[in-house]
Amino acid sequence: MTARPLAEGKLLAPSILSADFAHLGAALRTIEAAGAALVHIDVMDGHFVPNLTIGLPVIASLRAASSLPFDVHLMIEHPSRWVEAYIGAGADMISVHVEADPHLHRTVQLIRSRGVRAGVAINPGTPVSLLEAVLPDLDHVLVMSVNPGFSGQDFVPVALEKLATLKAEVARRGLSVRLEVDGGVKRENAGRLVAAGADILVAGSAVFGAPDPAAAARDLLRAMTAGAAA
Ligand code: DX5
Ligand code: ZN
Repeated sequence: MTARPLAEGKLLAPSILSADFAHLGAALRTIEAAGAALVHIDVMDGHFVPNLTIGLPVIASLRAASSLPFDVHLMIEHPSRWVEAYIGAGADMISVHVEADPHLHRTVQLIRSRGVRAGVAINPGTPVSLLEAVLPDLDHVLVMSVNPGFSGQDFVPVALEKLATLKAEVARRGLSVRLEVDGGVKRENAGRLVAAGADILVAGSAVFGAPDPAAAARDLLRAMTAGAAA
């Protein structure tokens, strides 16, 4: 399969973890109309992280209801056993955690061999240096700015340093790896994150926890534009 194209520039990826699970189709229509370029889908297994969310059947149903690119964040043990099923369900981008997979190259190659963008996620306590060997093989890095498991947590500032380090490393090595940041992203820090090097901002509660999610998404996009110009 071929992944849906991803727009260039700074992109907003609202996370449906904070949306009303009874109305996920409507949530996707709302964010698409507000200018989100993709949707972030958090898959948790109750083992790698202390929470359970949604899985294959829900993603497959959403796939039939939306043409937005699906950015699937696998917070699961043994991700390599599952990536093909998530690609079959409709993923256009997949992130697996470095902390969950001792065979990153194999998993990344498997994802890319199916025409899907592959990325590696790193928790706040995990050093960027663990990505050194696999960086040239990645389409994106997902820098976690909370410990994964829940939406609505406070931003962990070490993510800013990691973004800056990765941005410099990607440039130094002439790579085209996009940097994505996930957790505690708000209008107040969106500009700083973009200025530090983030290309894709994930936002859950800042979008779907707001009284008007469309307006909140547009506010975030404005803050991102301002950060890019700074
Ligand atoms: C956390 C998830 C996030 C979460 C972000 O484990 O990976 O994608 O939905 O939610 P906020 O933006 O509320 O921190
Ligand atoms: Zn996520």
